Amino acid sequence: MQIKIFPNETELALTAADIFEETITKKPNAVLGLATGASPVLTYKELIRRCKAGVISFADVITFNLDEYCDLPRADKNSYYTFMQENLFGHIDIKPENVHIEDGNAADFEAECKAYDAQIAAAGYIDLQLLGIGTNGHIGFNEPGDAFTDGTFRIRLSESTIKANSRYFTDSKMPEYALTMGVGSIMKAKKILLIATGSAKADAIYNTVNGPVSPHCPASVLQTHPDAILLLDEAAAARL
Ligand code: PGA
Repeated sequence: MQIKIFPNETELALTAADIFEETITKKPNAVLGLATGASPVLTYKELIRRCKAGVISFADVITFNLDEYCDLPRADKNSYYTFMQENLFGHIDIKPENVHIEDGNAADFEAECKAYDAQIAAAGYIDLQLLGIGTNGHIGFNEPGDAFTDGTFRIRLSESTIKANSRYFTDSKMPEYALTMGVGSIMKAKKILLIATGSAKADAIYNTVNGPVSPHCPASVLQTHPDAILLLDEAAAARL
């Protein structure tokens, strides 16, 4: 696991964008695994800037998002579909048919998850997977538990995640379930980039780097990935 520590979020985002640029330049039809939440926002802003400046193009890029809430209309302001439109897809030259996000309102969740895994496999798996990390060490919505998860599945969100994310649900109740890529799906990515900033992430980062590889801190599995890079600010890296 490579660890890079930055004095501020702007420099961190520039490095993250450089890694995306390198991936897309080498392979214009790269398969990207994308994340939502606060962590990737500045990186997405920089990717939008580079796309508008003609430095990179997403015309042939294929994307798969990590996760989506269940029982939330796609058009809801808090859906990850809306997040991705507002923070990335609506501002770049990606083809809508190349964008994949789980359908959290599918009538048959099991079939939806199987189909999602099949689409990732058919695309040749993910070249570059972007991750945030929960304060409890989750990646995607893989919450701490007794076993590492495998493919895409439906999860009941932990109290800690509900507490962390309910700040966005100011006028509605936060969903308690989500569909998420499993740890197995994430680990199949050729390269993994995890972004963490702020002191609230310091314990999770400590456990990710120094703890045992354990499903009680799902991100610790990255210790066993051949090409995982952690991009941290000083506050998130404070306990290393
Ligand atoms: P955040 O969420 O980027 O909004 O902190 C990360 C996560 O929960 O995985």
